[in-house]
Amino acid sequence: YCVKELVESRGCLQSVPSNYVFPENHDDCIISEEETIPTIDYSLLTSGSPEQRSKVIHKLGIACREWGFFTVINHEVPKTLRDEMIKATEKFFDLSEEDKREYAGKKLFDPIRWGTSFNVKVDKTFFWRDYLKVQVHPQFNAPKNPPGFSEALEEYCKKNRELASELLKGISASLGLEESYLQKTLNVGSNSHQLLVINMYPPCPQPEVVMGLPPHSDHGLLTVLMQNGLGGLQVQHNGKWVPVNLPPDSFVVNVGDQMEIFSNGMYKSVVHRAVVNGKATRISIGTANGPPLDTVVSPAPELVDRQNRHAGYRGITYKQYMELQQSNHLDGKSCLTHVR
Ligand code: SIN
Ligand code: FE2
Repeated sequence: YCVKELVESRGCLQSVPSNYVFPENHDDCIISEEETIPTIDYSLLTSGSPEQRSKVIHKLGIACREWGFFTVINHEVPKTLRDEMIKATEKFFDLSEEDKREYAGKKLFDPIRWGTSFNVKVDKTFFWRDYLKVQVHPQFNAPKNPPGFSEALEEYCKKNRELASELLKGISASLGLEESYLQKTLNVGSNSHQLLVINMYPPCPQPEVVMGLPPHSDHGLLTVLMQNGLGGLQVQHNGKWVPVNLPPDSFVVNVGDQMEIFSNGMYKSVVHRAVVNGKATRISIGTANGPPLDTVVSPAPELVDRQNRHAGYRGITYKQYMELQQSNHLDGKSCLTHVR
């Protein structure tokens, strides 16, 4: 059962079913409202003067090293396209359960998967979120419904790939490597894997006892995420949870596990979670931008040489890595420990 249907079928849901109640919850860790994740001005990266560009690359390096997360402003994804994505998402989740069931995919690499929680076969406690996951690159897929969704989605995902590509150049430079080094080494380009993940978190009568998404790290190189104006994302930083206050029209971008592996741990994929609220439905739309599925990701030889250290991770294909994550509980960074 999906959360949206659960909430709507009960008329006025007063309390949360016990299989959604997380044993240890939000008060385990301090929430810090004082700190904020760094902001990257994308326009300076793509069309700033050489001096502005090197400054923003420096800032990108600090953001990746110290936070693993940053906000991106002045990007080139039009507001109309972002609005369309939110509207189409709402319409998709408003389809009847029967219509959506057509997309009730079972397997990790099914082209389109509508579902709930993470992996209902292994999750001990269910998450307060429904999702739509679509394999959008190198093969493009999209649900037929609602009308226009497919077109918006294709354009949006393309724009996200462009954004990710420019950021990857900057990140490569911030590691002291040639701008194209990362993309060349990992064969990022026309065969790159991109997964669209749309999360919908219905309002919850007891938001403090559930989790939209429990603490986890992302599997790709870079995740690019937008939301429908409602917050809920929290990032682990120096032992505290820092809520992400995303300015309207901006993206939040984070370093994924493949980036941690590639950078030999210089840039850490950081644990984050999504909490839910009692008032309104929150929607977040993320793209996991990675290398091609058959690329073996391992620490960059140039970095390992320069650091005068050992490679701290063994090589594994991106596909195998994703399979590894899917077959386990979503649990902090536990998946990365398998490749150390
Ligand atoms: C995610 O962690 O992938 C999504 C988090 C969010 O909904 O903000
Ligand atoms: Fe995530």
